[in-house]
Amino acid sequence: MQWKPEYSVGIEEIDRQHQGLIELINLLSRDEISTGLMARMFDELEAYTKEHFTTEERLLKTAGFDDLKAHRKEHKAFEQWLSAVRQTYGVGVTSPALLAQSVNAFLRDWLVNHILSSDMAYKDHVAANRSTYLGE
Ligand SMILES: [Fe+2]
Repeated sequence: MQWKPEYSVGIEEIDRQHQGLIELINLLSRDEISTGLMARMFDELEAYTKEHFTTEERLLKTAGFDDLKAHRKEHKAFEQWLSAVRQTYGVGVTSPALLAQSVNAFLRDWLVNHILSSDMAYKDHVAANRSTYLGE
């Protein structure tokens, strides 16, 4: 999976974080999936949610984006999924390879339905309020 210019939401910092998620998806598509890789994956996803959702929500709030509440709900759902899948894996129900498959499917779905859809909804708003967002 490769980053494409049409994925851009017009804010460099957010685009970079989205690119980081694509890198994680690519790691999950490897042939060899180890327990260590999955542990690292969870740490990275945890960091992704903390850093990325905070950045995005802060920017949307500053600019007075109307649909922030609904957008936040989607972020919350991702956080809940992450903590649920982590717990399941923690009790040893799933093998690393099976887990990688299901995490991969979830993240691809997230990319299409959240990043390429809900995130795109604020793109025009960002462009119109650029000075409020970035102090430019
Ligand atoms: Fe988002």
